[in-house]
Amino acid sequence: MSDYQDLVNEAQARIGAAADLTALEALRVEYLGKQGSVSALLKSLGAMAPDERQAKAPAIQALRQAITETLATRRDAMESAELEARLASETLDLSLPAAETPKGSVHPVSQVMDELAEIFADLGFNVATGPEIEDDWHNFSALNMPESHPARAMHDTFYFPDAAENGGRMLLRTHTSPVQVRTMLAHGAPVRIIAPGRVYRSDSDATHTPMFHQVEGLVIDRDIHLGHLKWTLETFLKAFFEREDIVLRLRPSYFPFTEPSVEVDVGFAIENRRRVLGGSGDAPGHGWMELLGSGMVNRRVIEMSGLDPDKWQGFAFGVGVDRLAMLKYGMDDLRAFFDGDVRWLRHYGFSFLDQPTLSAGVGARA
Ligand code: PHE
Repeated sequence: MSDYQDLVNEAQARIGAAADLTALEALRVEYLGKQGSVSALLKSLGAMAPDERQAKAPAIQALRQAITETLATRRDAMESAELEARLASETLDLSLPAAETPKGSVHPVSQVMDELAEIFADLGFNVATGPEIEDDWHNFSALNMPESHPARAMHDTFYFPDAAENGGRMLLRTHTSPVQVRTMLAHGAPVRIIAPGRVYRSDSDATHTPMFHQVEGLVIDRDIHLGHLKWTLETFLKAFFEREDIVLRLRPSYFPFTEPSVEVDVGFAIENRRRVLGGSGDAPGHGWMELLGSGMVNRRVIEMSGLDPDKWQGFAFGVGVDRLAMLKYGMDDLRAFFDGDVRWLRHYGFSFLDQPTLSAGVGARA
């Protein structure tokens, strides 16, 4: 019995002194392994007479039990100490950049607006903005649209029940033209701006959505004339469509806020059943399509915007951004623009944060 107690004491002392898990494992093998000393004692029971075996077996089993438990306790202690040490010494570097998992795409409307801002910035234009919730003075009256104008009708325009501060009605702006008035009132002249943004009309089919996008252009200076308008539009459209052979046709038209008013058509050809801009619309197999409205700013608008129309004059234009995107990137249903289906974006090759630059080509795809 005391032999065994010595063995237990010795084993416990050595296990307690083991430096690491490797040393502990060596001790386990030494005592409990197949060739181990405790295993040898157990085997020796087989060779004993039944009386002796009965007398010694419980002590040997107890010895094995004691060493097994001591080993397990020491192992647990070592493992938790190791974990503590790792927790204390290892840190998570939250400043490391995360792996990139691009999920979204730039929307063609945003892409086109960015392209327009780039092109017009090169021509010296600033970007101006105005509220989407307008009052009827800025949206209609100041733009020389009288009370009887059909665009003011309830079935064309979304009105709010609230009255404006100036007593008029509040509405969702029907075009970006009120930004003309706001810019002249706020900054005076000269002016060279584009104003991209959302506009709203009570209209819905394959080519009309109740919300769509326009970009307004406005240039006011001492002696701006229609020639400046034509050159500006040609330069913009050539840069935007990345074609030198863009041909414009200017037709007389009517808008209350421009005089004279000019509807601008652009020549196109049909290629692979798609309209491709370029060439004169009068060439064989070609046609003209209406692209935008423009004209010389009506002197009444200049006056209502706080400027002297005998000193200042200029041109304005308004063009549909969604329509420009459809023409440039070949989409055919306007409603898909606002469905938010990422597969549609991918189909047309729009990739995540693919920003246009003039140096890389505004429409360049990676
Ligand atoms: N505001 C007009 C429209 O929405 C477009 C336009 C703008 C026409 C500027 C002339 C000058 O249809």
